[in-house]
This record gives sequence, C-alpha cells and structure tokens, in this order.
Amino acid sequence: MSSVLFSPISIGSLALGNRIVVSPMCQYSSDDGSANDWHLMHLGMLANSGAALVVVEATHVERHGRITHGCMGLYSDHNEAALARVISSVRRAGSAKFGVQLAHAGRKASAQRPWEGPTALKADGDPWETIAPSSIPFGEGWHKPREATEADMERVRNAFVSAAQRALRIGFDEIELHLAHGYLAHSFMSPVSNQRTDQYGGSFENRMRFPLSIVRAVRAVVPKSVPLGARITGSDWRPDGLTPDDAVAAAKALKAEGIEFVCVSSGGITGDTRNPAEPGYNVPIAARVRKEAGIVTRTVGLIVTPEQAEAIVSQGEADQVSLARAFLDDPHWAWHAAKALHAEVARPPQYARVGPKLWAPAAAKQ
Ligand SMILES: Cc1cc2nc3c(=O)[nH]c(=O)nc-3n(C[C@H](O)[C@H](O)[C@H](O)COP(=O)(O)O)c2cc1C
Repeated sequence: MSSVLFSPISIGSLALGNRIVVSPMCQYSSDDGSANDWHLMHLGMLANSGAALVVVEATHVERHGRITHGCMGLYSDHNEAALARVISSVRRAGSAKFGVQLAHAGRKASAQRPWEGPTALKADGDPWETIAPSSIPFGEGWHKPREATEADMERVRNAFVSAAQRALRIGFDEIELHLAHGYLAHSFMSPVSNQRTDQYGGSFENRMRFPLSIVRAVRAVVPKSVPLGARITGSDWRPDGLTPDDAVAAAKALKAEGIEFVCVSSGGITGDTRNPAEPGYNVPIAARVRKEAGIVTRTVGLIVTPEQAEAIVSQGEADQVSLARAFLDDPHWAWHAAKALHAEVARPPQYARVGPKLWAPAAAKQ
C-alpha cells in the first residue's frame, strides 16, 4: 500500500508534496532579531531534509516580544532584509516550502538563552519589562510582568500586522501565529495566567478576545493565496487549565476568523508544568480537533519514527505531522522515512546518487 505520509496535500492554494513538516525551532542565534549565517546553514540543511514544509522559528513581532536577546524578529527593516536574504538563498538550495511562525513572548520574554540557564535575564543581562494579561510571573526566578493595557494590546496587534506584511514581502508560503507554549496569546487564553476581570478575562469568550483580534487584523492583510494558521494548545496539563474541549472550541473560533490550519501542541503555561512523555502525546487531541472543528490539522510532540508518523496520517488523526528534535538529530529524516515506507522523496540533483542506488546493492548482499 502506498504511503499516506508521502502523499500530497493542499492548504488553500499551497500545494505540498508530502505531510511532513519541520516544526519551528528557536535558534537563539539572531543579531538584534536579524537572521545570519547560522540560519543560512540551519534552514539550508532543512530545505533538503525531504520535509515538504519547513516552519521558521518563533519570529517576534516586537523587540520586547522576543524570548531572548538571540531570538528572531520581524520588527525592523534590517530584520526583514536579513531574513529575505536567508530565505531566498535556502530556496535556491532546496525544494522545501517555507512558513514562518509569528510570536510575542509575553511573560516568558526577557529570558536567558536555554544554554545560559532556563530563567529570566539577570540585572546585568540587559533585561526589559514584560507584559502579560495579569501581573503573575511564569514561575520562580521569572520577571513579574506588567498587566497589559488596551494600548499595549493595540501596539502588539499592529506589530503582528506589520510583521505579517514583512513576511509577505519576503515571500513566505504560509504564516503561522503562535498561540501556544505560554507566550502572550496563550497566556490570555488560559485561565491559569489570565485572571483579569475586564472584557479580556473570565469567560472563554473573553479570554479569546485579544488573540482573536490579532487573528482578525492579520487575516485582513494576508491574501487568500497565503495560508494563515495557528499553533494552539491541546491541553495545559493542569486541572485549572485549558482542556482538549477548549482546543476544539478555539479551533472553531479561529476557523470562523479565517484561520486555515492549526498545529495542535500543548503545555508551557507555567514553569512547573510538564508535558506527558508518551510518544505522540498530542495526537488524540489533534484527532478530536480535526474531526470536531473540521480544519486542516497538524500535530507535534514526540513523533519520532516513520511508522508512527505514517500511522497518524493514515488513520486520519492529523493531516500533517510536525517534527522538531528528530530533524535536528537527523536532518535527512524524511529521506530515511521514505526508505522505510518505500516512498519517493525529493533530493537535490547533487545528491541524486543517494537512495535506491546506494541501498539496493547493500540490501542484496545481506
Ligand atoms: C531547539 C528547539 C526550539 C524550539 N522552538 C520553538 C519555536 O520557536 N516555536 C514553537 O512553537 N515551538 C518550538 N519548539 C517546540 C517544537 O516545535 C516542538 O513542538 C517540540 O519540540 C515537540 O516536538 P518534538 O518532540 O518533535 O521535538 C522548540 C523545540 C526545540 C527542541
């Protein structure tokens, strides 16, 4: 039977050759938000990974919306020119399509790079003031954020619009809004971090109000020819947090605002919550979202083997699988998945002598 993982899919007018996505992964290596030669190498490598789509790391819409001093941004002309250079180069090197994830880190901003220690910037590390729905820190050792005002929300919304316009000028094939992992939008959506008593807190509708207003504003400038999606929370993994029911409701609300796909992830709302450690821990939630909200659904989280990925899409639990660490471990993951599943995958002509011509004689000798 032919592989479903390696069958094509279209999201609006974006045609993808297979169902494999490289998940966005912060590199913490930008210069004041600008991509550089590290990104040229990293994304160039992934352009030839065999995944039909590579989503560029969380790219922040304002300078103070970055997680760390090394995080990528699209808040200046320099950021735009630097990312345009990288994307046009890696497109020439490989066949993958490229998306970008637009983000604002909220109360998780002003942090150290992970390898410097998973906590807020110290006084001598050039920290900045963070914003959040409520003035509650992410955890011990994190900044106490300032409660966002209407003016902050308007500024951030405009920054999302402006970053989306920059992404369109760069020519990204799709745009994904980061509404998960405890960053600003998710922190408004979750009752754990949002304890406001105004029209932005309390009921699910109120907690969705600001994130949905961002979606509406961005959708107004992104043409139908460029799919707009969102990474959402399947569960906060806490009894007082967002649930799979909320994920379904959020996906429906996002779809009504013109969101064309969701990527179901989870966790990250506080420093002390942990995601499950089972393979594909978000898959059952994604399956519910896909079925009940009727939206193109990708999912992520401990998807590692080709057989596991094939089962997820062939059983209709998700339309696409998104893999992060497996691609860092093996930048040709999708080539090896194609081999395991007896499928075809795009390789650049320079590397065409790899594949059946390499493996078949070795296999015949066994
Ligand atoms: C180095 C690294 C950086 C990450 N940066 C981002 C990011 O920019 N945006 C995001 O939504 N998730 C980010 N994540 C989470 C991954 O996209 C993914 O959801 C998570 O690692 C689970 O998938 P995996 O088990 O395939 O690694 C990052 C993960 C890693 C390992």
